[in-house]
Amino acid sequence: MPASTHSKRILAIVLIYFSTYVLGIYSAARASTQLPLAYTRNESHTLDQLDRELSSERGLRHSGSRNPRWFPFYTIGRFSNDLCLGNNLLMGTCMINGECKDNKGVAAGQCSSITQQAVCCIYQRTCGASTSYNNTYFYNSNYPAPYAGGGRCSIVITPPDSTICQLRVDFLALSLAPPTGDGLCSTDALTISGGASQVPTICGENSGQHIYVDFNGVSPITISVATSGGYTFNRQWQFQTRMIGCTSATLAPAGCLQFHTATSGTIASFNYVSAASSALNSIGVQGTRQLSNMRYGICIRKASGVCSITYSQVGSDAYSFTMTNDVGAVDPTLLATSAVQSQDCTTDYIVIPAPSQGGVMLPSDRFCGLGLVTTTSSAKPFVVYAVTDSNEELDISNRGFYLSYSQNSCPVL
Ligand SMILES: *[C@@H]1O[C@H](CO)[C@@H](O)[C@H](O)[C@H]1NC(C)=O
Ligand SMILES: *[C@@H]1O[C@H](CO)[C@@H](O)[C@H](O)[C@H]1NC(C)=O
Repeated sequence: MPASTHSKRILAIVLIYFSTYVLGIYSAARASTQLPLAYTRNESHTLDQLDRELSSERGLRHSGSRNPRWFPFYTIGRFSNDLCLGNNLLMGTCMINGECKDNKGVAAGQCSSITQQAVCCIYQRTCGASTSYNNTYFYNSNYPAPYAGGGRCSIVITPPDSTICQLRVDFLALSLAPPTGDGLCSTDALTISGGASQVPTICGENSGQHIYVDFNGVSPITISVATSGGYTFNRQWQFQTRMIGCTSATLAPAGCLQFHTATSGTIASFNYVSAASSALNSIGVQGTRQLSNMRYGICIRKASGVCSITYSQVGSDAYSFTMTNDVGAVDPTLLATSAVQSQDCTTDYIVIPAPSQGGVMLPSDRFCGLGLVTTTSSAKPFVVYAVTDSNEELDISNRGFYLSYSQNSCPVL
């Protein structure tokens, strides 16, 4: 057949298909405005029930399947179980109200213009829960009121299938009893176990921090907060847990406990706060805020058109790089001048691969002491390793690190 007749036929088919689709949207809009009152009153209808009722009302004949293949309206015009932002500003999943209730979710506003029955369903869980839902929030009992302590509070997170590879846990709020003066979490401890990658035990003040952990196949990961009832402290936590698909662009590279995706921002050691610790260490002097026994990577996603990354102390905070030696013995205004950059950093230090300062390459990639000179690295991936040993006996009143990073565009040739 001549090519022009052929393309006319294709055009006709496309036109018929498209007008069927437009009609579909129109009839769906009618259907949703004409829902009998019972639908809007009875909140226990399931998605399948609503599906059946809607399609019989439209006079559509289909096999009863939720997603008939031949009619694109179902996948586009009809709401799908997408992510949504609830009116409580938490992340949820868009679904029929009855299904949300069945799943013990909280309806936080509507999420579809197609039907008023679709709500943004938020999963909030506390001690003893288990979940396979994405974006499950885990918080202390009585949250946002504090928890006085005593016992262990856990959640078990099982991936729904093997297409999920990582869990990201955001500590939206995390305030536990502080470490000892030697940086040990012996009063309260957050542990995350069961994954294929290691997560260090943390405690103290960690709101705003996050971690990534790899799933070990479809084995569950347990997030557990152990607290000592004998220590008076207002504990509080609220975590957001996110499952990340194995092919997702947001997957953290191997070896990254933390993964930052902004072009500029800050990174901080766990329990970093500018104020001194009130605890004494094992030799009886003012202790550290740094947590002991750390060894992890903080990665920063390289933005496109970027060639290097620069790290510097957060200037407004004199204690923003206090890793080894005695903070207590130095005038705070002079702290940043006590930088040490050497392979001799062997107790508590950070590693910045292939570092340069003022355009000059440095002979070592380890940084410790009481200050950090602004340092740039072109080594990819962008990563800072944080290392601390098991005690703080030679370091008085250290805080850890709190650094700004900014990615630098490639030079125009
Ligand atoms: C609501 O729907 C449920 C499930 O179909 C049914 O058992 C119940 O009787 C209905 N309630 C009302 C008030 O229609
Ligand atoms: C889980 O939710 C996050 C948003 O919080 C989203 O980026 C991610 O893709 C979701 N994971 C899956 C497996 O759908």
